[in-house]
Amino acid sequence: MHGSIFALLKRYVQTQYDHSTWVTLTELSGLETMEYDAKEVYPDEHIYALVGHAAEQTGIPAGELHEKFGEYLVPDLMYMYQKLIKPEWKTLDMIEHTEGTMHARVRQEHEHNAPPVLKVTRLNENELIVDYVSPRRMGGLAVGIIRGLATFFDEADRIDVMPTTSEEGERVSIHVRRT
Ligand code: HEM
Repeated sequence: MHGSIFALLKRYVQTQYDHSTWVTLTELSGLETMEYDAKEVYPDEHIYALVGHAAEQTGIPAGELHEKFGEYLVPDLMYMYQKLIKPEWKTLDMIEHTEGTMHARVRQEHEHNAPPVLKVTRLNENELIVDYVSPRRMGGLAVGIIRGLATFFDEADRIDVMPTTSEEGERVSIHVRRT
């Protein structure tokens, strides 16, 4: 997984909880000596261990933590890839173009980057379906990112995010509608 995701997870835990919580999570995961560089790629097992221990420590299910973390990630992701974003895009356009622009660029940047495949079917101006496919089973993160995009584009009160499958599978379907 992309080092920037780890760097942001560290900042998320430090700001939502505190620095000692991050230290505890790294110790419980056997990763206390790790430094995460945004330009490197690290084993997926590290993120599973850190989020798994975070779930145990907080009592919040891992899927829910993924959602919250996904929401938190959005402003930084938008900043990192701002050159690829068209000024006229809003939430639904952003989701529609992620696979062909943002995730395509992420794949080019490092041979080991592997963002999920997002097949997006735009039903009409105000509605689309995202079919998420990833062996990482992080559909909760996808739901959180969509909610974070809605907040980013100031459409949070108009965007409904409705997963139509379990969020825990390798394939997750998410219906997104603007009212
Ligand atoms: C500004 C737009 C976006 C950017 C810049 C972006 C970038 C990234 C990056 C850098 C990763 C790490 C990939 C890796 O380490 O191999 C990632 C993973 C991920 N992205 Fe995106 N992404 C964007 C939008 C989205 C959207 C709209 C969704 C969902 C609808 C999404 C869902 C995910 C998920 C769930 C992962 C975790 C890895 C996995 O499940 O396999 N992303 N993204």
